[in-house]
Amino acid sequence: MAKILVTGALGQIGSELVAALRDRFGAEEVVASDIRMGRPDDGPFELVDCTKSGQLQEVVHRHGIGTIYHLAAILSAVAEEKPQAAWTVNMGGLYRVLEVARQNRCAVFFPSSIGAFGPTTPRDQTPQDTIQRPTTMYGVTKVSGELICDYYARRFGVDARGLRFPGLISHVTRPGGGTTDYAVEIFYQAVRYGHYTCYLGPDTRLDMMYMPDAIRAMMEVMAADAARLVHRNAFNVTAMNFTPEELAAEIRKHIPDFVIDYEVDSELQAIADTWPHSLDDSAARAEWDWAPEFDLAAMTADMLERLGRRLSRAR
Ligand code: NAD
Ligand code: SER
Repeated sequence: MAKILVTGALGQIGSELVAALRDRFGAEEVVASDIRMGRPDDGPFELVDCTKSGQLQEVVHRHGIGTIYHLAAILSAVAEEKPQAAWTVNMGGLYRVLEVARQNRCAVFFPSSIGAFGPTTPRDQTPQDTIQRPTTMYGVTKVSGELICDYYARRFGVDARGLRFPGLISHVTRPGGGTTDYAVEIFYQAVRYGHYTCYLGPDTRLDMMYMPDAIRAMMEVMAADAARLVHRNAFNVTAMNFTPEELAAEIRKHIPDFVIDYEVDSELQAIADTWPHSLDDSAARAEWDWAPEFDLAAMTADMLERLGRRLSRAR
């Protein structure tokens, strides 16, 4: 089997995706890479800046890579602070990954986002195919990314596939500067201090997913029968949606004294207010049998149990 390269492998998704891919295919078959050095792991690691074609080419050649999970990116909150850098990394990186994939016949996974939608998109049960006029630089790079992946598939036959993820919740690696990060931070603060000050307002409803479902979704769409795929790229996928108030109420079932209060960040709130409340993921269900396993109750129980254990060991 040709090997797998993961870019941005030290991030929130990559740190769990690499472990899952190595469990499935073997440690030596999965090359983790990032622009920064990681801690020693149980398999190959390469320093790769995804905006540098030469670095990508060299690693793809040397390791005999057949599939690239391209996770390197700048997320929504940081992208609004540094829009020029976000364009360079998110679009420049994806373009170079696709070119290397075209030249070396690699398959590519590209993660899009609820950020690919905007204020004129229907916000409830957001359809698979709908209006996409995002007003953030992150969103602009995600829509452009979806389109260029479709282009490379149609024009050059690159097997590019992708998902539109909602906010992802996980307990292994802290999130890297997104608008939905509150839904992870709240758990750390709940376990440590029983208190969290939220930067989004109490009624801000956003789509979310627990990381084990997200990892499985990536591996399933890449393994899906190509003949069944109508969309290939940018499948809506979702598992749950909630507001900060509803998440706090769920946490209170486990930590009855938990307190949430609010100091709304107007810039992050403005981003969240342009994103869907809930996605319609029927295309993913129909074309490759997508089905999430974790709802709000199951995710909250698992997060608190695992974080509780880890943070108490660290004390
Ligand atoms: P993250 O910020 O946690 O990790 C991104 C990684 O990319 C970091 O380790 C960083 O060092 C690396 N990186 C940055 N610039 C690089 C460069 N030039 N070359 C190589 N590596 C570079 O992000 P994540 O949460 O793991 O997200 C991964 C992908 O999934 C991104 O495309 C993101 O937009 C998408 N996504 C994430 C979420 C989420 O909630 N985490 C939701 C939707 C989509
Ligand atoms: N979690 C991501 C963000 O907030 C969604 O793409 O940027």
